Amino acid sequence: MTYPIRKFDAVVVGAGGAGLRAALQLSKAGVNTAVLSKVFPTRSHTVAAQGGISASLGNVQDDNWEWHMYDTVKGSDWLGDQDAIEFMTSNAVEAVVELEHMGMPFDRVESGKIYQRPFGGHTAEHGKRAVERACAVADRTGHAMLHTLYQQNVRANTQFFVEWTALDLIRNEDGDVVGVTAMEMETGEVYIFHAKAVLFATGGAGRIYASSTNAFMNTGDGLGICARAGIPLEDMEFWQFHPTGVAGAGVLITEGVRGEGGILLNAQGERFMERYAPTVKDLASRDVVSRAMAMEIYEGRGCGPNKDHVLLKIDHIGAEKIMSKLPGIREISIQFAGIDPIKDPIPVVPTTHYMMGGIPTNYLGEVVVPKDGNPEAVVNGLYAAGECACASVHGANRLGTNSLLDLVVFGKSAGDSMIKYIAETELKPLPENAGEFTKQRLDRLNNQTGGENVDALRGELQRTIQSHAGVFRTDAILKEGVEKVLALVERSKNTQIGDKSMVWNTARIEALELDNLMEVAKATIISAEARKESRGAHASDDHPDRDDVNWMKHTLFYSADNHLEYKPVHTKPLTVDYIPPAKRVY
Ligand code: FUM
Repeated sequence: MTYPIRKFDAVVVGAGGAGLRAALQLSKAGVNTAVLSKVFPTRSHTVAAQGGISASLGNVQDDNWEWHMYDTVKGSDWLGDQDAIEFMTSNAVEAVVELEHMGMPFDRVESGKIYQRPFGGHTAEHGKRAVERACAVADRTGHAMLHTLYQQNVRANTQFFVEWTALDLIRNEDGDVVGVTAMEMETGEVYIFHAKAVLFATGGAGRIYASSTNAFMNTGDGLGICARAGIPLEDMEFWQFHPTGVAGAGVLITEGVRGEGGILLNAQGERFMERYAPTVKDLASRDVVSRAMAMEIYEGRGCGPNKDHVLLKIDHIGAEKIMSKLPGIREISIQFAGIDPIKDPIPVVPTTHYMMGGIPTNYLGEVVVPKDGNPEAVVNGLYAAGECACASVHGANRLGTNSLLDLVVFGKSAGDSMIKYIAETELKPLPENAGEFTKQRLDRLNNQTGGENVDALRGELQRTIQSHAGVFRTDAILKEGVEKVLALVERSKNTQIGDKSMVWNTARIEALELDNLMEVAKATIISAEARKESRGAHASDDHPDRDDVNWMKHTLFYSADNHLEYKPVHTKPLTVDYIPPAKRVY
């Protein structure tokens, strides 16, 4: 064997909300579980989620999960799978109550119940009016959730491997997953983690863009690993631009600001969302608001000397409410924009925030791929949950606060599926060549002399994706983007990490992360170039309408030969009636 071996029943890669929720389920069931994380668990990117977690508790106004389901299907622009959406929205209340019972310190309304605020696209009675559905801990909901889940895992004796990065999947001759290779980042030592089941919960990959609300660690590791192991990536053309990133800095300003009464203004002081979404205005779904902002800027009504942003005004709700409900936003605005929102509006621009696509799964967290005529055959031993997975509940556009909900609902269901599989399965032997692929990659990197600088290449990739897969797309821009990205992928096969005696392992890690970014970027641009319609976050000037006849289908991208396949959207929910496609107005 190439590397030393450690044996576990389950390996969870990633310690954000989805990884920790799955690990908790596994550890509490007595499953011997290892959690690998590039950072200390409570520094995972879930910590940055601000505005809330959605659940139709109805603590402020009447609400129910079927309205939540309707909003999510509509938000997805009818690309979401309705069975998975029903599963998520109908389990939301239980998931939030469970977090509350674990000790998550939610804000409270007068009656003592969990505080809820309005958010984009959350409505009552199928779009009639905005509804308070986002359960919040001020503007630090992800932070509170992550700490709660981590503490519960400590209590359940989950084993953490902190500052370990997964490198490659190990599949046997039947294609079943039997483990991963992983590197301890401090020492560079590589181990084989031999397991019955592996879960990827590695979060997003927003770092393929130059401007992103994502942390530097969000390099799409789970997606890159799966793509190299022959697993297709689903719906990678759909990237969400959050309307309110701090202009010039990209740091997230929660939609909760608009939920608490904030409004967007152009250079003429006009509340322009009234023109684009007459019913819910600033609380339309994110793709709609981001496109409206981009239009205002494009048509010359942007603010500032370069007319390159709009303003988010919140001073009118009063200092007291800002200090109690949005304290983190005030801090971010002071630090990154140099303004105090109690007095002045925040300069904001649409900023890459969330990847709707990912590793294809069903609502049980099992990874599913086309095989022998079955469009969704289960890959034995492989699971995915959270942003790196495509269940697909978000379809072409995610609603705000459905991401934290996705993490806990699908983290738990993936954990349950793994428990069942592990109980029924013997540990399958490792193939003879286990670890060989990783060894070749590392040998190439260690022996490379001359070649491409990792940092420079990553910068080129990010700028290319930023300008060729942005808010508005055209056939020509995408076609040129495909050519550029494929050229960068070729060059990335010759990355070098400088004088090996002089470099820290971080240089090696960044080169390995770049391989993952390249996989994600390639899947994104090729999938986007092929989709000849506008749907959700994929807006094409050349194909401005949604085309349900030809394009109401999921994209599957295969990395080995860059080819695309398609599979049908699940239009049949589990128990309720199908929500038929309709024009998407807010
Ligand atoms: O705006 C926000 O607070 C972000 C929430 C989300 O992406 O779900």
